Amino acid sequence: MTHETQTLKADPAGIAEAARRLADGELVAFPTETVYGLGADARNGRAVAGVFAAKGRPDFNPLIVHVGDADAARRYVVWNDTAEVLASAFWPGPLSLVLQLRSDHGLSPLVTAGLPTVALRVPAHPAARKLLRAFDGPVAAPSANPSGRISPTSAAHVLEGMAGRINAVLDDGPCSVGLESTIVGLAGPAPRLLRAGGLPQEALEAALGGALGVESSEEIVAPGQLLSHYAPRASVRLNAQTSRGDEVLLGFGPMPCDLNLSQSGDLTEAAANLFDQLHQLDHMDRPIAVAPVPEHGLGRAINDRLRRAAAPRG
Ligand code: TXA
Ligand code: MG
Repeated sequence: MTHETQTLKADPAGIAEAARRLADGELVAFPTETVYGLGADARNGRAVAGVFAAKGRPDFNPLIVHVGDADAARRYVVWNDTAEVLASAFWPGPLSLVLQLRSDHGLSPLVTAGLPTVALRVPAHPAARKLLRAFDGPVAAPSANPSGRISPTSAAHVLEGMAGRINAVLDDGPCSVGLESTIVGLAGPAPRLLRAGGLPQEALEAALGGALGVESSEEIVAPGQLLSHYAPRASVRLNAQTSRGDEVLLGFGPMPCDLNLSQSGDLTEAAANLFDQLHQLDHMDRPIAVAPVPEHGLGRAINDRLRRAAAPRG
């Protein structure tokens, strides 16, 4: 499938055009505060199939469905008290909730890969909110990158990987959070952290008033959790204090290096820079070494993505 990929501005005309294209079953990338998503009408099986084709995904992983608010979310799932607590505290924002589907959900079964559950998210990015309001329906959107590659945090990243494969990209500059949403499973007996992401685990635990179970890597329910995701072309070596040989060094905190996630050691800044700097390093065609990043707050999600970038390629 080849298309001329149109770049749309995030002004009223661009938002209206993006919404019209989604309604026509087209594929439209759009900004969220986490990463750019590759959007399709979640009720339209052909459009959703197009998402998998455009990404070159080898299999049908379930996708996150984006909605405008918690009321819209309740239209598709069996809501519960924990969902209410987390949605009130963190929506709109970088949190996806996995809940049991209602029997009358009306979503394409491709979106959920036939599972009895669906991941829902209310993004906070103003352009995403305007697009969801204008479209007035559920938008399935994985990150707008070819399967297995680094997630996009700008329209330029989207075009680098997806130009000619999608209909349009709504351009509204770089993403502020820079890491995919945190995914919490609420369909079982107790809430489970399924993917570390842009909302720190500590914030979730404070809202829930207790520790959150974490999905171990053996019982992967989120197939996007496959190792060797987020991979640059070059090899990646973690916990490096200095570069060796031909390596380029990605630093954290004050240190000599080629690029620095955050000179001041700020994890929020590091998260926002992570994918853009991995894209930049990827263009240098040299092995990559990465300095240690502390394992708390957003550091957990940053380290998760770095471990996947460094994992042996399948
Ligand atoms: O920040 C984000 O979450 C971005 C933006 C665009 O919203 N989206 C994103 O989507 O990261 P994607 O498709 O790259 O990741 C979706 C993740 C996958 O790991 C998938 O397996 C998991 O969500 N997922 C979706 N539905 C699920 C379900 N029913 N149960 C468990 N995991 C699910
Ligand atoms: Mg992704």
